Amino acid sequence: MKTAIIYTSKHGTTAKVVQMIAERLTGNQVSIIDLKKEKCPDVNSFDGIILGTSIYASASSKTMQRFCKENIEALKQKRLALFVCGMEPDSAKQQQELANAYPQELYEYAVSKCFAGGEFLFEKMNFFERTVIKRIAKTDRSVSAIKSDEIDKLIMEIINAGS
Ligand SMILES: Cc1cc2nc3c(=O)[nH]c(=O)nc-3n(C[C@H](O)[C@H](O)[C@H](O)COP(=O)(O)O)c2cc1C
Repeated sequence: MKTAIIYTSKHGTTAKVVQMIAERLTGNQVSIIDLKKEKCPDVNSFDGIILGTSIYASASSKTMQRFCKENIEALKQKRLALFVCGMEPDSAKQQQELANAYPQELYEYAVSKCFAGGEFLFEKMNFFERTVIKRIAKTDRSVSAIKSDEIDKLIMEIINAGS
């Protein structure tokens, strides 16, 4: 299967999750596209598409929202999986963030949807972000909470959708 993993990332965690997915998608021809750095090739040239974005202040990136809007019909022809990176601790709110991150049509169509966890990387944050997160997380130490098992589940679901 020709698969594209198309993503946006601010501090590098979504990029890290993308690498984890690519390494585990053995037997696939995988293209990785960072929407903030490069133009996406024609969506129609892939069989499978995995979209990933991080959540800030409960919202996905504007760049990803625009990409979904512009390519919605083509994306609905593909084997599609969606994920978000975030540090929201409440599982009901995690699912809400995931559902709100992508257009409803795509969310309902996707064969897999995943809240992949995230990281607080204080060394990458600006002053404003550090202040906000210090108050919320009650620490100023970087923390990683990437959900490896949820990533495995996404991979299983996108592979099984073809069988
Ligand atoms: C200022 C700030 C606001 C954030 N707001 C949210 C939020 O509303 N919900 C959430 O789940 N995670 C939130 N996060 C956590 C990020 O989604 C997390 O750090 C993620 O791993 C970032 O991924 P990226 O480096 O790919 O951008 C926030 C992080 C920062 C620094």
